[in-house]
Amino acid sequence: MERNNKKITIAIDGFSSSGKSTMAKVLARNIGYAYIDSGAMYRAITLFCIENALIDDSGNVNETELERRIGNVSISFEVNPSSGASEVCLDGRNVEGKIRGMRVSNLVSKVAALPFVRRAMVAQQQQMGASKGIVMDGRDIGTTVFPDAEMKVFVDASAETRAHRRYEELKQKGQIASYDEVYRNVCERDHLDMTRAESPLRKADDAYVLDNSDMTIAQQNAWLMCLYNKIINQ
Ligand code: DC
Repeated sequence: MERNNKKITIAIDGFSSSGKSTMAKVLARNIGYAYIDSGAMYRAITLFCIENALIDDSGNVNETELERRIGNVSISFEVNPSSGASEVCLDGRNVEGKIRGMRVSNLVSKVAALPFVRRAMVAQQQQMGASKGIVMDGRDIGTTVFPDAEMKVFVDASAETRAHRRYEELKQKGQIASYDEVYRNVCERDHLDMTRAESPLRKADDAYVLDNSDMTIAQQNAWLMCLYNKIINQ
């Protein structure tokens, strides 16, 4: 199909480990758009809290100190030249390898629920997408960050399917976690993400829903590309 030069904003939201990042990355690469993983930004702030002793193992955050310092924390993305993937940097240091383990995963929802953290991240995300031509994935992209996005997708899959995916991903990276621990983490994060007061995870009214529980990665990529072609040629 002939490609249209019009640049749009693409918001992909959904539950943790629903496969949204995988499909968002492929779409961005295929259509020449920037890709931003907004979850990586919340993970990087969580790592900042861990490294600066601003959070304990139960997720209690020293909010006064974090709020005082958050304006000076720099979160950026750089492209890995060998994989072509965009990777998150915390104060100029690439921390992609550090933010995916269970420690950050177990604490990130607590940090992401803090209203001042969300305000800081949303402002940065809106700036990154100011000139369109962006695919951003997360929990509140279609509802809060880019409510006017031309293309919104909400990705869903069962908690068991998502826990299996995350477990396999961690195993491949050599990170030790049991399936039960991963499943509990997925369920707990679903609950925290949906029930927090500030920007809870919910489907935007105008989002297209994709339940990919029984889809292959190739099938979901094709579904997304087909939707993009439909919207861009409208
Ligand atoms: O997509 P992920 O699992 O890497 O996201 C990590 C956490 O960050 C997740 O528990 C919810 C939170 N998050 C959020 O609150 N808002 C976003 N836009 C993206 C992620």
